[in-house]
Amino acid sequence: MGDSFGDFAIFKQPAIIRLSYHKRTGKCVSVDTKVIRMDEQHIDREMLLEAGDIIKAGGLVAFPTETVYGLGGDALNPASSRKIYEAKGRPSDNPLIVHIADLEALDAIVREVPPEAEKLAEAFWPGPLTMILHKSDLVPYETTGGLDTVAVRMPVHKVAREFIRAAGGYVAAPSANRSGRPSPTVAKYVAEDMDGRIEMIIDGGDVEIGLESTIVDLTVPEPMILRPGYITKKMLEEVLSRVEEDCTLMRADSGQAPKAPGMKYRHYAPKGDLTIISGAEEAVIEYINEQLERQRLAGKKTGVIGTDKTIGKYHADVCKSAGNREKENTIAKELYRILREFDDESVEVIYSEAFDASGIGQAIMNRLLKAAGHKVIEIK
Ligand code: TXA
Ligand code: MG
Repeated sequence: MGDSFGDFAIFKQPAIIRLSYHKRTGKCVSVDTKVIRMDEQHIDREMLLEAGDIIKAGGLVAFPTETVYGLGGDALNPASSRKIYEAKGRPSDNPLIVHIADLEALDAIVREVPPEAEKLAEAFWPGPLTMILHKSDLVPYETTGGLDTVAVRMPVHKVAREFIRAAGGYVAAPSANRSGRPSPTVAKYVAEDMDGRIEMIIDGGDVEIGLESTIVDLTVPEPMILRPGYITKKMLEEVLSRVEEDCTLMRADSGQAPKAPGMKYRHYAPKGDLTIISGAEEAVIEYINEQLERQRLAGKKTGVIGTDKTIGKYHADVCKSAGNREKENTIAKELYRILREFDDESVEVIYSEAFDASGIGQAIMNRLLKAAGHKVIEIK
């Protein structure tokens, strides 16, 4: 086990964790971040026990899931949750998702399991679905951002599940990015944001889905989607006859606050100024090229997000294809990587084609709209 990795021997050494503390505040300022590698076919239980010990001792470990990388800490330890907020630079009113590996673990952290939750768990767990339920006293308010409800997810990724078991069964994990940056879909981006802030990164290669889990609130009279993801409304409605949607998901002008606290922040934002252009294909291409010329004359570095079919028609400094419209899963998987690459290449102005907001396309457009601060131009 593990022999297939040429450089694996070095990971077998015991973890050396060096922490520095700020003299006045006592806060942790720098950590040696150890990176270990394993994928679902090569699980190294010894290394995962070490990762689990870090969590049990109150430290932080980033790990792969099928959606995006998570930044894990002990969900039942208030100090660990505080550390997560600090490492991410995240406002502490934005609650964390508690990750479990086995259904038996659910009872202890929730007040009750309603029949809808049982049905959804049977249909979609383990997998990319998060359920909001009433929390039990075991879950500290530090983890739930002061709420009486708790978000719970059981990932399907084998490394994630073995790691959660090794860590004691309850791992609080937001996406492993600094607050406001796109969620990481490869370990390289976790390291970019978290190096020196957390004790360990488990590099499990590329994630499968690339967008965060669907969140469904089961503490309200009608189950409600608070964040769209790979599990779509239609899929949920095959299990529960009726599912509502938070009306703020696709609109900036609803005048209401999103029901998932984290959705109110301008997440997933690239550093460049992003605008979405929607309309008929040829008209969109023509409009974007006009804007690109204007920005070029103003001395700006420009970028475009198009598709395999259209990308060759744009005259930007950096052109990126999100994939094929007929295979929306490929677009979901590429989106965050593309947004980060525009940052790496210091692109200042970005135009993106719009995507069909049905199925997983809704999750793609929800994230893209947030990245663009809801700036959309419709070409008639
Ligand atoms: O796919 C995922 O869900 C990833 C991976 C790592 O599992 N995690 C993730 O976590 O996306 P995070 O923290 O980036 O997003 C969690 C979202 C936030 O928008 C937060 O406000 C919402 O879930 N949330 C958590 N607890 C909640 C609660 N009790 N009520 C309403 N929203 C909640
Ligand atoms: Mg996040």
